[in-house]
Amino acid sequence: MNVKTNENVSLKGEGLLETMRETIKDGLIPSKIFHDEDIYKLEKERLFSKTWNFLAHESEIPNNGDYVVRYIADDSFIVSRDNKGEIYVNLNSCSHRGMELCNVERGNSSHFRCPYHGWTFKNDGKLIGVPLEKKIYGNDSGLRQTCSLVSPQVGVYNGLIFACIDQNAESLEEYLGDFKWYLDIYTNKTSGGIEVVGAPQRWVAEANWKTGSDNFVGDVYHVQVTHRGNFEVAAKLTNTDIGSIDMHTTGGVQVTAGKGGLCLIEVPPGMVAGMPDLFHESIKENLPEQLAVLNSEQFSLKELNGTIFPNFSLLTTPSVQLPDGTIAVPHFLTLRVWRPIDSGKMEIWSWVFVDKGAPEWYKERAYKEYVTTFGPSGTFEQDDAENWQGITKIAKSSMAKDRYLNYTMGMKNNNADEIPNWPGPGKAYSSAVNEANQRNFFSLYLDYLSKK
Ligand code: FES
Ligand code: FE
Repeated sequence: MNVKTNENVSLKGEGLLETMRETIKDGLIPSKIFHDEDIYKLEKERLFSKTWNFLAHESEIPNNGDYVVRYIADDSFIVSRDNKGEIYVNLNSCSHRGMELCNVERGNSSHFRCPYHGWTFKNDGKLIGVPLEKKIYGNDSGLRQTCSLVSPQVGVYNGLIFACIDQNAESLEEYLGDFKWYLDIYTNKTSGGIEVVGAPQRWVAEANWKTGSDNFVGDVYHVQVTHRGNFEVAAKLTNTDIGSIDMHTTGGVQVTAGKGGLCLIEVPPGMVAGMPDLFHESIKENLPEQLAVLNSEQFSLKELNGTIFPNFSLLTTPSVQLPDGTIAVPHFLTLRVWRPIDSGKMEIWSWVFVDKGAPEWYKERAYKEYVTTFGPSGTFEQDDAENWQGITKIAKSSMAKDRYLNYTMGMKNNNADEIPNWPGPGKAYSSAVNEANQRNFFSLYLDYLSKK
């Protein structure tokens, strides 16, 4: 199929998606999906209401009574720990007139009292108090049996708390599928897993949510250009000739597994999963299967960026250990939610995590490394948002909105073919610089948006 850039000008909503199902086979994605109100309406109805979405990590609510307020697109939820330590997720909407029940983003409370008429709910969501109940609703009102807060499906994996609005959807375990094996690499390097550092940072970008998912699911290609300034600074600071740094590496692999995709980059042979010495023992203990794949005769890999469909992304940075054992750059893990708030606007949620079993000095340095690179004012973060906002702005303009964007990387040189006998779960593709993951992401996107 040869699609011309000005074909299908008038296509909207479902018609556009039908066409996309054909064009994606040629690696072409309509620009319009990155800034279109009809598409956004379909996404809220058929995608964010049907998928599993990350809300919080258990370490954000460590004590009984702790809670945080979180979102799936425009729905607000209270994620709480009750007085027995159980985790609950309830819609942040009073059962009486629908008032927003809790407008404080985090805290500790045994109950939530509605500011409108005073109905009171326990932190597990049960209605426990109605002003003047017997007098105005009668002795046998039945309210407490029928008016608890509404809750979505809830699932927890490695301390990551997810919710799914669709009560009939598959379980979280099934949804994550083969991606769990890779999620373990990000979250299970030391016994006890990961722990959050502080509250998530948030900011609004004039960018469509899919630009973030698309970038994290597989865009290693942009690093050498978008982030070149960072490499120039690093070269200056270390007195290295920028020309000697290989920024055009095409090694590594892309993996699509379960409902997610990630990139594994090449690291020098012998480095245990690309991690400093002080993690070796715990990695061997906690991730033996993964280590056998990442550090084998055939491969020497480290996980980098990934996205779990639809808008939950992960990035753990490479660490640098000098020959004398000194750690020049510590690694950290940042988790992201690209929360849509409009067709051309998202609220970026960014958490920073450290490995629970790491020494305190390492955790502190890891946090500082995050702040200067991928925090809201971090050098890498600033670079990325420029691109995502540019794509979204242009996708709305008169001529550009009917164009198709090029996602053909890897299709002509066989890098989009699966690596035969890949020893890990899922499908792996040659080279982390590829667009196989992005095409798989948008195929899954179409599957959800096509289901009425
Ligand atoms: Fe909450 Fe009336 S709306 S008590
Ligand atoms: Fe980037």
